[in-house]
Amino acid sequence: MYRIKCLNAISKVGIDSLLEEYELTEEINEAEGILVRSADMKCMELPEKVLAVARAGAGVNNIPLEAYAKQGIVVFNTPGANANSVKELVLCAMLMASRNVLAGAEWVQSIRDSESIAKEVEKGKKAFVGSEIKGKKLGVIGLGAIGAEVANAANELGMTVYGYDPYLSVSGAWRLSREIRHATSLTELCALCDYISLHVPLTDKNPEMIGREEIAAMKPGVVFLNFSRDKLVDEQAMAEALESGRVKTYFSDFANAASVRMKHAILTPHLGASTEEAEDNCAVMAVKEMMDYIDNGNIRNSVNFPDCDMGICQSTQRIALLHYNVPNMIGQITGVLAKREINIANMTNKSRGPFAYTLLDLESSVDEKDLAALRQIESMIRVRVVSGEGAHSATSSVLPVGF
Ligand SMILES: NC(=O)c1ccc[n+]([C@@H]2O[C@H](COP(=O)([O-])OP(=O)(O)OC[C@H]3O[C@@H](n4cnc5c(N)ncnc54)[C@H](O)[C@@H]3O)[C@@H](O)[C@H]2O)c1
Repeated sequence: MYRIKCLNAISKVGIDSLLEEYELTEEINEAEGILVRSADMKCMELPEKVLAVARAGAGVNNIPLEAYAKQGIVVFNTPGANANSVKELVLCAMLMASRNVLAGAEWVQSIRDSESIAKEVEKGKKAFVGSEIKGKKLGVIGLGAIGAEVANAANELGMTVYGYDPYLSVSGAWRLSREIRHATSLTELCALCDYISLHVPLTDKNPEMIGREEIAAMKPGVVFLNFSRDKLVDEQAMAEALESGRVKTYFSDFANAASVRMKHAILTPHLGASTEEAEDNCAVMAVKEMMDYIDNGNIRNSVNFPDCDMGICQSTQRIALLHYNVPNMIGQITGVLAKREINIANMTNKSRGPFAYTLLDLESSVDEKDLAALRQIESMIRVRVVSGEGAHSATSSVLPVGF
């Protein structure tokens, strides 16, 4: 039986997807896996027994990734699990900005005590005439999980969609409708589009990537949608552009002290991923990633170790080795197995920054002595028997390394 500790309330659908050899525990010292949403783990030391932390959500700035990697703890997140939720709100925001929905609804409330309200609304509605999004140009900056969904959906609604993403992955490109046009620069996209939607992660390299220059390049009367992070936009420059009318509406999911004072801004309280479905999707994905790692040693969507997927072990035994990304690790590992005449049926070795992962399917089983020899290799972090003889009992086998 493996035990999982939840640091936050995790959706029931996610918990229900735990297989029967898993159970929840209140005791962190008993746990092999940790499920977390927003709990601050930055100063949280984890017991040696913990193999994995799975964050139900995308952002991992509440988790000390490097410290946990050094301890042999693989951290997972759930990219894309909330993409549909954000996409739907972006579409809603685009329509709200086009149809004066909020201003119209507020005006109706302002005349609610009038006895002739039904007549007044018919007379007054012309003040709220809007425009349709069909046939308009939408620019999507960042064509990852969310951006691709927004681009494809807007295309389906009859918009002409331009995408800008100089780092677009091959799988990301496959997800995109072939109708999406390629903008070769940010300023080109800004100059072309009636609506612009931002979908890139905030990093230390791109604060205010939408700055004065980009805003100056935008079409007068553009609607700008920010469902990524407020710091990606120079909000002082945005406030001035709203004031002058160059930008018609700034729709941001990140209300802050500056944006609440902006003229023509529509602000929501970080609602992009706030749907029951997104929470369920994130929880199910986090649970599945964690179980696949514990049961099979496969790593998908880790944020501190490389991805590595060998499916289910078809050989006698599978062992997993987390180590530093330094020369001659494979030579030393295979050397230990060669001495014992253990044949390797299948293997994968991948690295990510300073860390690496080796997964081995063996035709016969290693014993405690072999495991000890593997653990003695300098720069080895954790050696675990994943399946076959000795599985599970060897989970807490981390050796401190002098690194
Ligand atoms: N409002 C919300 O509630 C909410 C919810 C989820 C995510 N988000 C935000 O949305 C962002 C995007 O999420 P995602 O799941 O689509 O991420 P993702 O990693 O799947 O996609 C990000 C894309 O941005 C591209 N990119 C990076 N830098 C770029 C640049 N300078 N110019 C153009 N493209 C660039 C990348 O190549 C990638 O394709 C997240 O980082 C997060 O900040 C907000």
